[in-house]
Amino acid sequence: MKMHQILFLLFILLSSTNALVQDFCVANLKGPDGPAGYPCKTEAKVTVDDFVFSGLAKAGNTSNIIKAAVTPAFVAQFPGVNGLGLSLARLDLAPGGVIPLHTHPGASEVLVVLHGSITAGFISSANSVYVKTVHKGDIMVFPQGLLHFQANAGGKPATAIASLSSPNPGLQITAFALFGNNLTSALVEKTTFLDDAQVKKLKAILGGTG
Ligand SMILES: *[C@@H]1O[C@H](CO)[C@@H](O)[C@H](O)[C@H]1NC(C)=O
Ligand SMILES: *[C@@H]1O[C@H](CO)[C@@H](O)[C@H](O)[C@H]1NC(C)=O
Repeated sequence: MKMHQILFLLFILLSSTNALVQDFCVANLKGPDGPAGYPCKTEAKVTVDDFVFSGLAKAGNTSNIIKAAVTPAFVAQFPGVNGLGLSLARLDLAPGGVIPLHTHPGASEVLVVLHGSITAGFISSANSVYVKTVHKGDIMVFPQGLLHFQANAGGKPATAIASLSSPNPGLQITAFALFGNNLTSALVEKTTFLDDAQVKKLKAILGGTG
């Protein structure tokens, strides 16, 4: 084969490979959310605003039972992250506030403390605990799927940004999973070793029935 023929073949090969590479897949939130994310919005309809989200600029409302707020910038709020393997959230913790034990089934998390001090920790599959009070500028990582928490460790508000390794990390808060549901008290007692009064009290606080 002559040199110019080889170059021509290379050119064809590279241009067909390029055709398979997609720059982005902004979520069409009306489509089904499958394991690979949402279907792509038609490129002609994509605008810069799909890649910008201003929802983390202001503090979440911490007037609630946990005295804390999680403001997500997941794919549902920020469609530009669809398919990119990342997302963010903002944590606001009033004094005494806590993000109770929870998991993100689909993502690891890196926490960046912006203001204040936070006692954060996770529990491994072997039930080892890793707890530390982190301060402004510190970062801490929480491996995927493990139970973890963040609690305000100072007398003033604390703020942090969480970076997650999925556009749709999921969030399941353990106390709500156990007591904010319709599983009968008898079954909750059997599966948690707690007594009837404790279970009924927690169901009442966290919105469960049964
Ligand atoms: C914060 O939430 C509380 C309780 O839901 C509500 O009463 C209050 O108006 C909210 N504050 C703001 C600033 O939205
Ligand atoms: C619990 O049951 C009620 C109706 O009995 C239903 O409206 C509600 O959605 C259920 N909650 C959950 C978390 O399944």
